[in-house]
Amino acid sequence: MITKLARQWAVATGQSNRWKVISRFPSYHGSTLGALAVTGYDALTTPFAPMLRTMPKISAPTAYLDRDDLSFEERGIRYANQLESTILDEGPESVLGFIMEPVGGASTGALVAPDTYYGRVREICDRYGILLIHDEVMSGAGRTGEYLAGDHWACRPDIVAMAKGLGAGYAPLGAMIASDRLVAPIMEAGGFAHGYTYAGNPLACAAGVAVLAEIDRLDLVANAASMGIRLKDGLRILATRYPFIGDVRGKGLLLAAEFVSDRETMEPLPTHLNAYSRVVELAYERGLIIYSRRTRGGSAGDHFLVCPPMIVTADEVDTILNVIDDTLSALANELHLPVEAAR
Ligand SMILES: Cc1ncc(COP(=O)(O)O)c(C=O)c1O
Repeated sequence: MITKLARQWAVATGQSNRWKVISRFPSYHGSTLGALAVTGYDALTTPFAPMLRTMPKISAPTAYLDRDDLSFEERGIRYANQLESTILDEGPESVLGFIMEPVGGASTGALVAPDTYYGRVREICDRYGILLIHDEVMSGAGRTGEYLAGDHWACRPDIVAMAKGLGAGYAPLGAMIASDRLVAPIMEAGGFAHGYTYAGNPLACAAGVAVLAEIDRLDLVANAASMGIRLKDGLRILATRYPFIGDVRGKGLLLAAEFVSDRETMEPLPTHLNAYSRVVELAYERGLIIYSRRTRGGSAGDHFLVCPPMIVTADEVDTILNVIDDTLSALANELHLPVEAAR
């Protein structure tokens, strides 16, 4: 849907040669054939490869994995510059947009780029007249401690996609936000050629309005920020006890921990251990719902996401951390992973 809006803007403004949407690997943008074309997650895209018009990909800014002499921030610039070289390789006049998750979801395990990345990407998009699209389906509506995750870097995209948090995860509701600069030419040219049976569904929208009012009334964006700090600090403490945690990352209440077999090299755990699915099962048995995937395109790099409801309290964060501690201890025991110190 987002890429269709972008394309219709290009057509309406006399730029119909622009159609390529560059995206990142790994990434996840949805399960339709159109969304899979910009998704970078082999386990989900490979079966459909012959049916897809696969779009150009650049690396997701996985600076935490790099072992070079550059600083974290220098790596941010290097990753952003990949966008420019891909635009030049593809032919700038054929590129329509660049889509990215400002804070990653399940495909990367809450990946956060170096601070330098965001502004540089905006600059590059502006230089070539390319639309910057933020996929905030996971990160939007306050989860990261700002209403939009892009706000952490004052980064203004041209189009934003939101969903999950808009309906508090209960009402099926998604939204696409674009500036009048994009919308006006499309409307003048006859309107957005897209629709669903349930688009603009009044029941879901009413729930969404109520959710937004509650987010404001309870100041849940601020709660996500402060509880997120408490939770992330707690996960970092757990990482000192469980050396198979190689990285703790994310923002606000969109957090993840990645498992490794060697913290220095960031070598992933052997895939046959299936640590990513076992950790979820062990947590569930202990009353905690977490989520997991693999960060290296779906084939390796086990991680788990911790994303409690935005109303979570300090006591509940501490309970979550205790359950995760217990879960990791059981996982270590089962998979013969190292544990640093006595609990
Ligand atoms: C970052 C991201 N983008 C897009 C989607 C797709 O959203 P939907 O399942 O509503 O199509 C998801 C779903 O998990 C997501 O996490």
